[in-house]
This record gives sequence, structure tokens and C-alpha cells, in this order.
Amino acid sequence: MKVIVVAGTRPNFMKVAPLMWELARRPAVEPFLIHTGQHYDQRMSRLFFEELNIPSPDVDLGVGSGTHASQTAEVLKRIEPVLVDWKPDVVMVVGDVNSTLAAALAAVKLGIPVAHVEAGLRSFDRTMPEEINRILTDAISRFLFVSERSGVENLRREGISGEQVVLVGNVMIDTLLACRRRSEGSPILADLGLSSRPYAVLTLHRPANVENPNVFRGLMEAIERLGQALPIVFPVHPRTRAVLDGTRATSNHNLILTEPLGYLDFMKLLANARLVLTDSGGIQEETTVLGVACVTLRENTERPVTVEQGTNVLAGLEPKRIVAAGLDALERPLRQERIPELWDGQAAGRIVDVLTADSAHVL
Ligand code: UD1
Repeated sequence: MKVIVVAGTRPNFMKVAPLMWELARRPAVEPFLIHTGQHYDQRMSRLFFEELNIPSPDVDLGVGSGTHASQTAEVLKRIEPVLVDWKPDVVMVVGDVNSTLAAALAAVKLGIPVAHVEAGLRSFDRTMPEEINRILTDAISRFLFVSERSGVENLRREGISGEQVVLVGNVMIDTLLACRRRSEGSPILADLGLSSRPYAVLTLHRPANVENPNVFRGLMEAIERLGQALPIVFPVHPRTRAVLDGTRATSNHNLILTEPLGYLDFMKLLANARLVLTDSGGIQEETTVLGVACVTLRENTERPVTVEQGTNVLAGLEPKRIVAAGLDALERPLRQERIPELWDGQAAGRIVDVLTADSAHVL
């Protein structure tokens, strides 16, 4: 069975890692990895391949940055000949980025079944580019591998149900659990002078938060206020760097700015943080499993299990609410979180089991 796995951005790499490890263990499977090149820097891409033992991509499409349309179009155009040439039995895509949708669309138009890992998540906010990517990718996928039960229900409401929808757990958590021991060896806390001090971690990269000056200013005000309680480490995404450089936030002494961090350093930082503030999707899940308080700087989440069972609080974008949520989290002992169903480190194994058991149909 020939399986193509597609990855394009930083959050894709920790999702494809356990899939590649698992595929390599199955003698009946011939895997082939395509990197779309949506993310291309050492710190946004290559470092993750090295740290997570992901095999070098068989092909790098090198699409790079661009507008949504041009980035999506370039992946579509450049991936098609690879699919035609290699004739996979299935194309596996992960997450919700432009590369995910484009690869799925190219495959389905060639009559190649698509497997979507992390299917069914919905923020119900169609102004998010990721929400459009999720809805469209799910609509054209043959296999829908779901990470939390809300996803099964969302798909059912969209008329997608039956054997093709499988609750498998969370591949990102497979990676977290597999790398836990190694990440504990990271020197990042000592490097940042935080070995014996409580600190918070901040990440921000969503265009809706970063590119609207009023929203960004409000977020930074909230951060400045919380920074009076404890130092805040802020690994800065390239998009955010461009905005941040023009503001006075860079002179806030309680804000420790760093380059984007590698996986092992970042997991060490998260695991030991007193508080995490983020607009990322994946970090809401990772903090849930690590048992670390997370304040999400968004009005909605496509990962409701992290709020219902995990450590996540949705604070929105209003500075006062963010400060209140942050201070509240600092004052309270962590509430007893539960690890969501099947977030046990075995999701990739379940996925490959389904694909290989179903290969007779696929072929
Ligand atoms: C993309 C995903 C988002 C995901 C995020 C993780 C979509 C629609 N969005 O957003 O869901 O959470 O990745 O980072 O696919 N850049 C670099 N070096 C790189 C990559 C990007 O400097 O290696 C800069 C470029 O200036 C680029 C900007 O970052 O314009 C944004 O990159 P882009 O790929 O457009 O999307 P992200 O914001 O990273």
C-alpha cells in the first residue's frame, strides 16, 4: 500500500511525526513524505524534522509564503504531478492549514482517497482561514480521523457519518508523550534564567490578533499588566515579529522575547510554566495533557474538550477579561483536569490500523 503524507507548516510537523514512525513499522506500507514548503525557515521547519526524527521529505514543493490564494494554488499545481507520478493508494493530510486543503483537493480530483487527520473540529467562525480549510477538507475526505468527540458530532451535523468517521485520539499528543523524557533534558529554563522562578509563556500569531493594531495593542496592554505578576516568555512567530518591532512592547522588561523555539525546548517551557497565554490551537491541547493553566486569547475554540475537561479558559480579546483570567489562574490551584478520551499516545497506530485494514476497499 502506497501512502503519501503531506506536511507544510510547523503545527503539521508534530502531527506527521508519529504517523511516519508508525508507517515505517509496517512492512506492507510504502510511505512517501511531501513537504509543501509553506514553512521553510530552519526554526519553523527543519529543526522539527531533526528533533522529531521525521525522515527527510521525499519531495519539497517549495511554495513558500504568499497570499491565501497564491499559496493554495501553488500547492495544488506543484503537488499534482507528484501524485500522478507516484500513484499513491491514499493521501494523508493533517490539521487545517492551506497546505492541508490544497493537497486534499489535488488528490481527490485525481480520484485518490484522502485521509484527514484531525477531522471534524469546528470553531463555527468562518472568518478564520483554518475553519474554511477544515470544512472543505472534511467534505472531500474518504477517511475522517477525529481527535475529540465533538468532531464526530460536528461531522454528523454536516451529513458526514458512518464507518468513514473514526475517533482515534490525538496524534499531537502521541508526539508529546513520546518526546516527554527528551524534552525534560532541554536547558531552556537555565538559558532563560527561569530555573527557580515561576513564569508564564505567551504565543501569538493569528492574523486576527496580530494584524489589527487595536486588537494587538489591547493584547499587549493585558500582557504588560500580567507581566507585573511574573515574567512572561514570548517566542515570537515571524508574522508577529514584523508587528512587534514597531511597538513599545519590546521595551517591557517582564517580557522575555525569543526566536521561535524548537519542539523540545518549547515543551520543556510549557510543562514547567505557571500559566500559558496563547492563540494557538495545538497549545490548548498540549497544556491540557501537561496539566498547565491555559488562557486562550480568542473568542472561540474548535477544541472544546480542552475547556470542558482540560485546563483551558477562553478569555477573548478584551484586555480586562484577559488580565482577570490570567490573575485568576495564578491565584487558584489548578482545577483537576482530565485527559480526554484516547489521548494516550496511540492515535497514529489506530489510524494506520484503519487504513491498512481498509486497503482492500481503497484499492
Ligand atoms: C499558518 C497556518 C496556521 C498555523 C500557523 C502556524 C494557514 C492558513 N495558516 O499560519 O493555521 O497555525 O501556520 O505557524 O495555513 N514566515 C517565515 N518563515 C517561515 C514561514 C513563514 O518567515 O518559515 C513568515 C512569512 O513572512 C509569512 C508569515 O510568516 O508571510 C506567515 O506564514 P504563513 O504560512 O502565511 O502562515 P502562518 O501565519 O504561519
